[in-house]
This record gives sequence, structure tokens and C-alpha cells, in this order.
Amino acid sequence: MNLHSLEKESNVMKYKELLSQMTLEEKASFCSGKDFWHLASLERLNIPEIMVTDGPHGLRKQNPDKDKKEGELGGSFPATCFPTSATTSCSWDTELLREMGEALGEECLREKVSVLLGPGTNIKRSPLCGRNFEYFSEDPYLAGELAASYINGVQSKGVGTSLKHFAGNNQESRRMTVDSVIDERALREIYLAGFETAVKKGKPWTVMNAYNKLNGTYCAENKWLLTDVLRKEWGYDGLVVTDWGAENDRVAGLLAGQELEMPSSGGIGTKAIVNAVKSGALSENTVDEMVDSVLDLIFRSAASRKDYTCDMDAHHELARKIAGQSMVLLKNDKNVLPLEKGKTVAVLGEMARSPRYQGAGSSLINPTKMECAFDALIQKGTRVVYSAGYDKTTDIPDEGLIADAVKEAKKADISLVFIGLTEVYESEGFDRDHMQLPPAHNALVDAVCDVCDNVVVVLMGGAAVAMPWLERVNGVLHAFLGGQAGGAAIADVLTGEVNPSGKLSESYPYALEDNASFNCFPGNPLSVEYRESIFVGYRYYDKMKKEVCFPFGYGLSYTTFKYSALKLSAKSIKDTDELTVSFKVKNTGKLDGAEIAQLYVAAPESAIYKAPKELKGFRKVFLKAGEEKEVSITLNKRSFAYYNIDIHDWHVESGEYEILVGASSRDIILNSKIKVESTVDAPVPDYRESTPVYYTGDAKEVSEKEFETVLGRELPPAFFDANAPITVNNTLEDAANTSRGKKVNSLIEKIIHMIGGGGVNEAMMKKSATQIPIRCFVTMSFGVFTEDMAQGLVDILNGKSMAKGLGKILGGLGSAIKNIGALMKAI
Ligand code: BGC
Repeated sequence: MNLHSLEKESNVMKYKELLSQMTLEEKASFCSGKDFWHLASLERLNIPEIMVTDGPHGLRKQNPDKDKKEGELGGSFPATCFPTSATTSCSWDTELLREMGEALGEECLREKVSVLLGPGTNIKRSPLCGRNFEYFSEDPYLAGELAASYINGVQSKGVGTSLKHFAGNNQESRRMTVDSVIDERALREIYLAGFETAVKKGKPWTVMNAYNKLNGTYCAENKWLLTDVLRKEWGYDGLVVTDWGAENDRVAGLLAGQELEMPSSGGIGTKAIVNAVKSGALSENTVDEMVDSVLDLIFRSAASRKDYTCDMDAHHELARKIAGQSMVLLKNDKNVLPLEKGKTVAVLGEMARSPRYQGAGSSLINPTKMECAFDALIQKGTRVVYSAGYDKTTDIPDEGLIADAVKEAKKADISLVFIGLTEVYESEGFDRDHMQLPPAHNALVDAVCDVCDNVVVVLMGGAAVAMPWLERVNGVLHAFLGGQAGGAAIADVLTGEVNPSGKLSESYPYALEDNASFNCFPGNPLSVEYRESIFVGYRYYDKMKKEVCFPFGYGLSYTTFKYSALKLSAKSIKDTDELTVSFKVKNTGKLDGAEIAQLYVAAPESAIYKAPKELKGFRKVFLKAGEEKEVSITLNKRSFAYYNIDIHDWHVESGEYEILVGASSRDIILNSKIKVESTVDAPVPDYRESTPVYYTGDAKEVSEKEFETVLGRELPPAFFDANAPITVNNTLEDAANTSRGKKVNSLIEKIIHMIGGGGVNEAMMKKSATQIPIRCFVTMSFGVFTEDMAQGLVDILNGKSMAKGLGKILGGLGSAIKNIGALMKAI
């Protein structure tokens, strides 16, 4: 009996009867997709076909007739493009996330999609991660709560979700090969905690393993991650699916607890399973258990097989509400906002008419409608003049466009300058390499500030940016990536119809160098070392007492709030008890509004290093002008615990903890103390002697040796052995230093340039092609690229006979031609 059977043996298989009627080959085929988006089906046994698709902030169901339809924005069926997670997370509103999930679930039913591939809940370790727009937060408590609500919303409609990318996928650079080296405590407290909450509270139907390795093992075959932690500790009983192309060794994946390989590997995975059973390396019972989970997913997807319609206009309005509830008012000097009625407003910047409203890559939604802020302001009767100010397709300031904008600014009472990260800046597939906005946008703001003393910047983008003009403007509204109704929502907030209530779900440092991961992001060719350990986001800035541009949890309102009457339900508790913290929040201004109250816990000084404080509760409270409400938040053992790697469990130290309540991580208004008594007698790991840097030094400057101490092992190799031959597990980029490799890389880039047509897609395709392991050329091409062709390529890269290598590649052309149709059909 193998390891995986041991885990599942107590669970009676649900589909034993059905399984007994399937051949080994049929069963094995259910462990891989049928194509890119469908699971296997079997007519003979009435096992239907189901479809899974992206996700997360809308439905990207690819349209096979995309070439025949004119005027379509993209290659997928129209769906509501909701704001991305970088935006929705700033609502801190679990109910709203649930509502969005319900609407997404309905759109899945409408398109007969059984599983929506989201939410992504990886931690924003660096402001640079190309996919930060798709993730919730730098804080695992906030990320986990929001992800759970989203999941509950979608799944309440009878549609599954896929919690992704599990785990340690905090960058796009070399995402398919990099080894994320994370010490166990940081892993538990920061990088797994959000997943843990989402799994326990949301019970997602599927979890998607990440591409990368985690501490030396591909996530797709990491038994510790997929079985020991996910299933045994967290009680997960759903299915694990690979990220698209993340399979390395099909049988190792199965044995680690990963049931489904996506997309189809064109029969390679199936063959590997059948052979392993035949050779005795894998028991048929294990295959049965895995297929049982797949069948369970298929049969629980009954809802998406019926016809369904939903009110897409209502979803557009919901998207608008969510965007309005999520935007963050960062600055509002002289109460420049809301806009005063009757004033002339200069709307400057192309993004006012052509907004950036979503990210790029697998989450790209083809919206059902689009609203821009410029039109929405006019519809509301605002007197506006407009000038583009810059050309979105270039970073270079255009003096002519700037001069036109300045002319309009001079005539107006107030200038709204719409700027942000353009499409080419942020995407799946690559990371940013700086935090700057396009120079053309900054130049526009400066030029307008030279002639106008009433300037408001409306910012778009999915990640933290530097704001060099901040002192020169009166107002900043961060609209993030607002989805298809984001423009209307911006107008709602600017005019005061919606009172802004969003708060930042990540810190905005002044400069990239201030971030704790600065020296170790995106890492080395082979690995990325998370040397800063638990000191991520505000945990680091607080520890270093570093000023930030805007802190975690920060956001303004058009009204004001007063906090008072903090009460704790006890003076002292045992770590097994719950503690209720209550306090009052009053709207002391003249407008109705909402406040996001935050609760942080600060631990007493300890032998183990800790962050000065951690978020352990929050509540969004809606208050009419003058209204006061009492807020209650319940804390439990986890609110006071750190992860003790010696006992492999959460551990509370006895002592006096501070309860801090406030309006942001840097605006603590109420505080109290509670004595907590530990019921677990365990020694506290003490690194004060061995790695004082984590206590009194700078966690950004941790040495190799110090990191090895908390890691408990030697660091894995960071660089390639220059003498080691290239294998199918290498990428073309790995071979870029050899003269042949250089040529192959440049050829690939040229081909992509020819077909890519510039822009963000080309940048993404280039990185994808050169940073994908060669084995994936085979597994993801439906037979177009054969194993022989891959070997030919590897031979060429290794400097073997060019003629023979090319021979192998050309020898596969027959297969390529034969299978190209299958590939095109599958994607
Ligand atoms: C992405 C996933 C996505 C999948 C399917 C992968 O490249 O990492 O997030 O769900 O593709 O499109």
C-alpha cells in the first residue's frame, strides 16, 4: 500500500460500483484533462463532460468561433468583468466578496462551466510580482477571509472554485521552475495561513497546485504540502488539480495527492499511470481513489449542466457597487473632493476615456459593457473639458499633448488627472522591475501642477507605485483595476454619490528598496530565498519603524469617525478560551459612510522574533451621519499564536498581549491588555544568539548563514552547474549562456515578435516560451512537439551534432502537421 492510500483508506469510495466497470486505461484517463478546459467523460457509463475555466474576477470561457465574430474585444465569450482582487480586497468586505462570488457562480451556470479557476490567494511579498493585481493582500488573515467569502459565494450556486496557486508562488519570474525556499515558520504564518483559512472556511471544490518548487519539491508532487498539510491537517476533502502545465512526473504527482493533471498531456500522463500500475510501482487502488475524487467533482457539478439565465445588467451594477466600495481615497487636502457642483472640471489623461480596468494573462475577461469615468461624469451633469495628456502606448512624454492639457487645466476650477500603470506594466508571466509610473504620466501631473493649484490624481493599476508628485496635489483617489463599471464608480466617488470607504490591503512604501524582499526578489536562476522570513509587508515596516508612503489599512472618507469604549470580555484567559473584543464606532461627520475598523494583536517580548503587531480581526461598519454602533470581534487561540517549528504546531506563550484597535496599521486609537495563559508546555525556539538579525537587525539584510539557521538546513544551489547538461526539465533561458542557446532564444523571440504584435501579450509570450521547461513543449502541445523533437532540441543546446538534432526535430514534423488540428481544437 502506498502513502496516498493510507490517507484515504478510512474514506469509503463513493463511486466503487462505477469504478469497477471501468478499465485501467479509462480510469487513468480521468486523471488528466480531455483537452485544455474539459475533464474526461465516458458515454458508456453516463459520466458527463464538465468544463472548468478562468477566473478569478470574471469568466474567461474561450470562444471557438472567435474568428467568425466581428467586433469582439477578445477571444472569449462576454462576461461581467468585476474588479480584480487588488481592488476588491480594499473593500475589506466579506459580504461583498460573497455577493460577487454568487454573481460569478451564476455566470458559470449560464455558460455551463462547472469550476471557476480562482481565487488566487498568494501573498504579495514584493510590490513587483506581476500578478499582484490578481491577489488579495500582504496579510494572510485578510487574504484568507476574503478568499473564503468569494469561494462560499461561487459555490452557493452549485459551481466549484479552484483556490490557487498552492503554494509559495509569489512571483512570475521563472515561475515554472524556481524553488521557493521558505522557512517553516514563515510558510505557516504567512504563506500558507491564507490558504488554510480559505480551505477551512470555504471548502473549495478544488485546490490548484502552483508551478514552482516549494523547498526543493515541485508543488505538483509535494506530498507534505498536498497530503500532510492540506488533507491531514486542514481536513481538505476536495480535489487537487495542477496549474496548467505544472505536472512534472505524473505518477509522483498522484502519489503526493494530486488527482488531476491539466490540461491534457495528450495521453502521456495516462500512459505513465497505466505503466506504473502494470509494473507494480502504483497500486490500482490508488488510481481508484484518485478517480473517485474526479468523479465526485464531475457528479457534484450537476447544476452547470442545466440551462440557466441571469441578469447581466444587474451584474454590471454589482460590479459598479463593488468598485465604488473598494476605491481608496489616499489624500483629500482642503476637502477638494467630492467635487463641488457647478465647477468646471478639466479631465486630463487618456485613462479617463480608455481606462485600465483589469490585468493580463489567463484572467483577461471580455467585458459585456464598458464605462469610462469621462462619460460617467458627463452623464451626471458635471461640466467637463478633456485632454488626453499622454499617449497610452508610449512612456515618453509628448510635449504637444502635455501643452494641450495644460491649456485646459488653466481654464478649469479643478483638474482631475487620470494616470496609472498601463497594460504593458502588469501581467501574469513576468514581474515589474521597478515601482515607477510611466514617465509620461508623471510629467503630465507635474505640468498640470505648475499651472493649477487644485489637482486631484485618479490612479489606476493593480500594485503599489511610487508617487513623486504626491506633495504637489490636493487629492489622490486610487481606483485600482475597477472592472467594466470602474469608470462609473470613479464618477460616483468623485461626485460624492458614493462615500469612499476602501482601505489599502497592502503597504505603499516610498521606494522599492524599502521592501523587505528587495535583496531577494525575484531571486537566483534556480531558487528564490525568502530570507526576510515572517517580516512581510507592514510586519517589516513596523519592525524597522520605517515611514511608508501609505500604510497597510489606510484610507480616507468624506466623513469622520470616532472610536471609543473598548471592552474585553475577560481580563485573563487560557489559550483555549475565546475573547470578545468590543468597541464603538461613531460617524461624527455630516455624510453617511462606512469605516473599516481593524484589530491588531501585539505579543509580549519573547525568545522568538515576532512582528510588532498582526492583524487578527476587522469589520466594515456602515454608519449614517451621527450614528454609532458597537462592533464585536472574537479572538481565539490563533489570534495569539506563533507557529512553533519544534512541536510542529501553533503555540501561545503565556504573557500579556496588547489589543490594538484602529483605523489603519499606523493609526491605533484604542488599546487594552489581556493576560493569556498557555495550556501547552513547550520550549520556545530561541534564535537570539544564532540570528540576532531577526530581533535587532534588518530582516532585509539576512546573510546566507543566518537564513540557513532558521531554515534548519543548507541552502540549495542557487545557480546552474555550468558543466551540467541541459535536460528536458530545463528552460531555453537556462541555456541562454551557450552560443547555441543564445541563437535559439533569439530565434524564439523573433518568431514571437512576428506573431505577438507587441504589447503585454508579446512580453508575456516571450517569457512564457523561454521560461517554460522543455518537457512542457511536449506535454502541452497535443503531439505537435514530440518527445523526439524535445530530445533533438536538448541535443542541439548541449552542443551535440546540429544535423542530428535538427533531424530529430524535422522528423517530428509529420506528427506536428497531423496533430496541429487537435491542438487548435483543444485550446
Ligand atoms: C495560470 C492559472 C490559470 C491557468 C489556466 C495558468 O497559467 O497560472 O492561474 O488558471 O493558467 O488558464
